[in-house]
Amino acid sequence: MAVIFRDRAPDALNEGSPTAERSRAAASGAQQPAGPAARTRGRAAAGETARREGGATAQPRRTTAARSAERRVALVTGGAAGIGAAIAARLATDCDVIIADRDEEAAQRCAARLNGRRRNVAALAMDAGDADSIAAVCARIAAEWGRCDILVNNAGIAKTYPFTDYPTDHWQAVLDVNLTGPLLLAQTLVPLMRKQRWGRIVNVASISGIRASAGRTAYGTSKAAVMGLTRQMAIELAGEGITANAVAPGPIETPMTSALHSTQTRDGYLRAVPMRRYGRPEEIAAAVAFLASDDASYITGHTLPVDGGYLAAGLLDI
Ligand SMILES: NC(=O)c1ccc[n+]([C@@H]2O[C@H](COP(=O)([O-])OP(=O)(O)OC[C@H]3O[C@@H](n4cnc5c(N)ncnc54)[C@H](O)[C@@H]3O)[C@@H](O)[C@H]2O)c1
Repeated sequence: MAVIFRDRAPDALNEGSPTAERSRAAASGAQQPAGPAARTRGRAAAGETARREGGATAQPRRTTAARSAERRVALVTGGAAGIGAAIAARLATDCDVIIADRDEEAAQRCAARLNGRRRNVAALAMDAGDADSIAAVCARIAAEWGRCDILVNNAGIAKTYPFTDYPTDHWQAVLDVNLTGPLLLAQTLVPLMRKQRWGRIVNVASISGIRASAGRTAYGTSKAAVMGLTRQMAIELAGEGITANAVAPGPIETPMTSALHSTQTRDGYLRAVPMRRYGRPEEIAAAVAFLASDDASYITGHTLPVDGGYLAAGLLDI
């Protein structure tokens, strides 16, 4: 899980950068091409054969905007389960989606489930807490898709201990996945967004980054920091058509909360959330899809709570 820190901004796509070297090495080791660039090359070759054989058919003319929207590519980290899977499903309605998850089999199962006739969902193995793994995936995206328009930093882990006993190895692991991973992914993929002067970065933070809850020393700190990182990225990218925003989910029914939330925690949330229920992954996906859309073009540096009213609440009973 070790993350390598560097003293200057990396750019996987800039010649000569350390990340570029790592990305090239990773790309040369890539196995089966999965992206549409590879499929397009195949289709182009097939089209050439058809033309030579007099079999080419006329394609309907499309506007530039329609073509561009059609070809948008979204990367969703931790997209194999829970909130990430719902985000992947939602974005797959009008984008090519790459699910990057440390659980490769689950990612492939999720992609297979979402793939309709367009076969526009791909699955890649990636550990969001590991710089080399991130570089390898970004290199494949650059080589096989040739673009990344939407980055959703959703992968996240939580380990709860009392603050006084919080083990530093867990602290580091949580920060690697929840904070450093989003930084490295954005640093590496922004050059692809710059190519079309359009991009959307959406970081999945948490209400725990805004209000402290017991045991969440590393988790809450990482989520507060990712909201700060979101603002930093937003102001530096604001002139380039690239926005950076975050969502802060309240308690959501996912494999994470099934494993982490005791009956006591669950009851506590049901008392504290004005809507008196957990949210559904699709309710987070809807907010992410909005922030990733053209409709959110003048929103940047913002964190949108999606929490059933939790952050608005004080005393709930009279
Ligand atoms: N569920 C909630 O109540 C809740 C609330 C607030 C914020 N969040 C945040 O939402 C995001 C998703 O949470 P969830 O509840 O769906 O989690 P989950 O544990 O149910 O699913 C997480 C997915 O991410 C993958 N993953 C975990 N670590 C990874 C890594 N290092 N690299 C790549 N993939 C990795 C897992 O394999 C899994 O597919 C997280 O960032 C979490 O902190 C969740």
